[in-house]
Amino acid sequence: MRQPLIAGNWKMNATRTSAEALLSGVIAGASALSKTEIVVCPPFPFLSLGERLLSGTAVKLGAQNVCTKDAGAYTGEVSAAMLAEFGCRYVICGHSERREYYGETDAVIAEKLRACATQDMIPILCVGETLQQRQQELTEQVIAGQIDGVISQIGIEAFNQTVIAYEPVWAIGTGMTATPEQAQEVHAFIRQKIADRSQAIAEKIRILYGGSMKAANAPDLLSQHDIDGGLIGGASLIADDFLAICRAGDLVAS
Ligand code: 13P
Repeated sequence: MRQPLIAGNWKMNATRTSAEALLSGVIAGASALSKTEIVVCPPFPFLSLGERLLSGTAVKLGAQNVCTKDAGAYTGEVSAAMLAEFGCRYVICGHSERREYYGETDAVIAEKLRACATQDMIPILCVGETLQQRQQELTEQVIAGQIDGVISQIGIEAFNQTVIAYEPVWAIGTGMTATPEQAQEVHAFIRQKIADRSQAIAEKIRILYGGSMKAANAPDLLSQHDIDGGLIGGASLIADDFLAICRAGDLVAS
């Protein structure tokens, strides 16, 4: 059985004060949960605060992005070593917002996964189709391309230490969640893609669902066979909402 993973992607939200309150709320509620791995991914300026508050708790820290390069003249970028130094265990790579607004390609995203590996951090590789692609019945083709685009550069072995997040672009921040059946279908497809290269990795890799996941729909989504957790945007900004999803993870793991 794969341990459920619930990760909060705060995106570009929070202030120093609200970040502290949110982290404290998550820590307090998480102490009652034992089966779900819980990760929070605040913006870069709050990682230091996160490291300090989360230290000695079961809640782990993640980042929302990383530079492909190790160090040097790359103004505005943050290296994997810097993230590791501030206690990050996870890094979201290739989120659809980064693909769309910052032009991240599969090749760049593969380099980000490679950068994470140099610091023993676990990338959360995001994949997903747009509404138009779904309507044109291109979902599997798009996702296969996103996964193959990474595997062809860094090899399947890298997926020993990778989490995949299926985030249909049309479900992100829209309140339009994929149905559990729609999501399960794509998750099973992703696992089969991995199994084509390595059965062992396919069985253990965790595949998260992301896109308007909230307390009300989390139990049904998380009880699907190939859904191993969630990558949560909006609902991760309110401690009680995020914790309710984490509790759903604990229930399915029981
Ligand atoms: P929402 O949960 O706000 O739809 O965002 C999902 C997401 O993009 C997580 O990375």
